[in-house]
Amino acid sequence: MDQSVLELSDIQSGALRPRPAPYVATYLLVRIDDHKVGRELMRKLSAVVATADHPTSPLKDTWVSVALSFQGLKVLGVPEASLDTFSPEFREGMAARAKQLGDEGESSPSNWEKPLGSPDAHVVVTAISSNKGQLEAELERVRTTYRGLSGITVIWGQDCHALPNEKEAFGFKDGISHPAIEGSGIPGSNPNERPLKAGEFILGYPDEIAHAPSIPQPEVLGRNGSYIVFRKLHQRVAEFRRYLKSNASSAEAEELLAAKMMGRWRSGAPLALCPMHDDPMLGTDSQRNNNFLFKDDPIGYKTPAGSHIRRMNPRDANIAGVVRIHRMIRRGTSYGPVLPDGVLEDDGIDRGLMFAFVGANLGRQFEFVQSEWMNQSSFFGGDSERDPVAGAADGSGNFDVPKRPLRQRVPGLPRFVVTRGGEYCFLPGLRAMRWLADLNP
Ligand code: HEM
Repeated sequence: MDQSVLELSDIQSGALRPRPAPYVATYLLVRIDDHKVGRELMRKLSAVVATADHPTSPLKDTWVSVALSFQGLKVLGVPEASLDTFSPEFREGMAARAKQLGDEGESSPSNWEKPLGSPDAHVVVTAISSNKGQLEAELERVRTTYRGLSGITVIWGQDCHALPNEKEAFGFKDGISHPAIEGSGIPGSNPNERPLKAGEFILGYPDEIAHAPSIPQPEVLGRNGSYIVFRKLHQRVAEFRRYLKSNASSAEAEELLAAKMMGRWRSGAPLALCPMHDDPMLGTDSQRNNNFLFKDDPIGYKTPAGSHIRRMNPRDANIAGVVRIHRMIRRGTSYGPVLPDGVLEDDGIDRGLMFAFVGANLGRQFEFVQSEWMNQSSFFGGDSERDPVAGAADGSGNFDVPKRPLRQRVPGLPRFVVTRGGEYCFLPGLRAMRWLADLNP
């Protein structure tokens, strides 16, 4: 077997396939109380999980994926020698990494929604579809895997759904920019970005640094798996709107400030291609809306270096470091209702994003981006500002918009996104799921 050809029939669909648009999704968190029953659950779930080559749904845009936390692997009885081969961040779990992630104050694990971040979070089942009927059918298939099994408890759930026009709660079009992955057959969205080595996302393949990076052992367990990060992120939409209003003199200026913070107009149109005015046709045109680089804009007059998308993917901008080793697959889904247009006071309803990262390296991908690029600015030579959309701001920092003759400094950046909880998980390949099911004694 050629070890470098992606085994799509063993890789979970949820790792490689962009989610359908529009979508509905449900996340279930499962606790395993009895390791033997947990193994039985793995066996049954392995028949429900869709693979990257052929999703089980006839519609091809419905699938179930299954991920396990470190505690989950432990409870199933994975031997110590094998557990030790998983990445240190994964073994610690997300709550223990709070400091590195900026999960402090109201975002700190002590304030998380229970039981997120607790040792009871063992298995995360995600079902996603383009329509409710099909989602319900898939969820029913999931329920049949544990119905009647004592020793398995669903301890938490979250329903998500696409908001109108594929926007997230702040009102920006989401789900636009994705890396291309060698051998996946799934195209990327930026023709200027060379496809990334598959090993950046799927364990067991060459990555951008090494021909044979180390993976969790035994090989049958690690190969074709990925790490996945789940984060429930509450969005303070009213506060975001008030910030725009109090720092802009007109409705047009508010939209421009919002675009400068994101790096795109709410329509999805990138400032890199239309810096002065929105272009909604461009925003929805997937052939063009991610076809740009930053090298013609070193100072950030069009797209501020501190904007969300330029921080999260600086492309060819001059920064300290190598962008290609910090890329990620994102699978965000929105929860909660839209805050009606024009409302500036919080209505007390929870809304936000179930953020999901997929990659082969929690440390140099997710944690690096979250700590160095989102919550610091030295990599692009900025002051001590944070990501103006999703950073761990505390009201004392600024957001700088490069301008001639003088930059515009928007002071008092509050925190618009609060972490409600999450976990680091491992998304095993199908063979690995069956290996887990066969664990003995
Ligand atoms: C509630 C929190 C967040 C919101 C509302 C948000 C919103 C967005 C939006 C609207 C885009 C542009 C559209 C697109 O390319 O899909 C985007 C891009 C992106 N975001 Fe976020 N995001 C959030 C949190 C995060 C986090 C926590 C990370 C990673 C640690 C992240 C990483 C990225 C990346 C990598 C891109 C693509 C950048 C590019 O290639 O141009 N985002 N986000």
